[in-house]
Amino acid sequence: MTEAPPFPQDRTCPYHPPTGYQPLRDARPLTRVRLYDGRSVWMVTGHAETRALLTDPRLSADRQNPAFPSPVPAFETLRKVRTPLLGVDDPEHNTQRRMLIPSFSLKRVAALRPRIQEIVDRLLDAMEEQGPPAELVSAFALPVPSMVICALLGVPYADHELFEGLSRTLLQSTDPQEIDGARTRLEGYFTDLVARKRREPGDGLLDELIAERLATGELSHRELVNMAMLLLVAGHETTSNMLSLGTFTLLEHPEQFAALRADASLLPDAVEELLRFLSIADGMVRVATADIEVGGETIRADDGVLFCTSVVNRDGAAYASPDTLDWDRSARHHVAFGFGVHQCLGQNLARAEMEIAFASLFARFPGLRLAVPAAEVPAKPGHSLQGLVELPVTW
Ligand code: HEM
Repeated sequence: MTEAPPFPQDRTCPYHPPTGYQPLRDARPLTRVRLYDGRSVWMVTGHAETRALLTDPRLSADRQNPAFPSPVPAFETLRKVRTPLLGVDDPEHNTQRRMLIPSFSLKRVAALRPRIQEIVDRLLDAMEEQGPPAELVSAFALPVPSMVICALLGVPYADHELFEGLSRTLLQSTDPQEIDGARTRLEGYFTDLVARKRREPGDGLLDELIAERLATGELSHRELVNMAMLLLVAGHETTSNMLSLGTFTLLEHPEQFAALRADASLLPDAVEELLRFLSIADGMVRVATADIEVGGETIRADDGVLFCTSVVNRDGAAYASPDTLDWDRSARHHVAFGFGVHQCLGQNLARAEMEIAFASLFARFPGLRLAVPAAEVPAKPGHSLQGLVELPVTW
């Protein structure tokens, strides 16, 4: 028997699953992988099996369950704290999610679109004024979602260097002490912010939660602070990676890029296809609480179960020519936002941000191109959200 491949691995090309995941692709719909601590866990790679299992209540997201697998050392630190939403099961999860759903509804996001457009335009004005070349992550891909989530939550953007730096450490560092320090500082930041907002309320989601949920005891102070941290981190790091890696991918696919420029109505489908193709959140984690039969195998209670999004989203049984970027396919049933009760709360917002940001960036700089050879563009490591560290561009 061959040894289970290690997970996670660095991508060889920033927009394709690591070549080292080929055994996972060959072994669809599920196989075993080895984590950094030597533990062997299930890795689900089939599209149909992923959707079935992510809606199966016998899989738990409770990170405090001692059997919950730790895919990266950072997890050991982060699981000490009860992560709201992502790290809890129903009915607790459902109670928390219902408090937030209205703020991320299609209607609310539609009302935010003019604000997103204003933010995008302002950043593009600054890039144009400065003139080429530019580093697209810091000039555009990161500030767009960061400013938007600040506006939505009621967090002062003036503090962005602090929380962006701490989020980066949380998601990318491999040093448990450093991660613990970043988490404690971010918690301190939100504890102070909540105290300030109780004295001087503003008009963001955090202010609403303070007035309507903290005051009534539905949320404890600690839960509110943890929720604010999750929303802030999930709200900017993810979309930022889609914007940088999405732009890079388009620049590397001139034919698809030209088609998109020629017909802006393709954009919503192109965003779905980019989500599928790039699968930036590559590895959702669960633990089985009972035996489950799936794909001819038995997942036993207490087994760790991971989902390899990049491989699932390229399952040939779900998508013809899965390794091709194709605007004409219907990619909407991808699992880039997860599936089931934990499916991304911010997906409507992320879609609106991507549509507005891509459309405006490409319209403003029709000659946009890489300022360095593609091979020199630094990509993020396999254990973090997938994306680019920097993206030097010119026009
Ligand atoms: C393109 C950008 C994004 C991607 C690819 C993405 C991906 C994901 C994925 C895969 C999950 C499910 C994780 C799991 O089941 O274990 C998730 C959950 C979540 N996402 Fe996103 N996300 C994005 C943008 C956002 C934004 C803008 C927000 C805004 C705050 C957000 C907030 C959340 C929250 C709160 C959850 C947990 C939901 C729950 O457990 O009920 N995400 N996201």
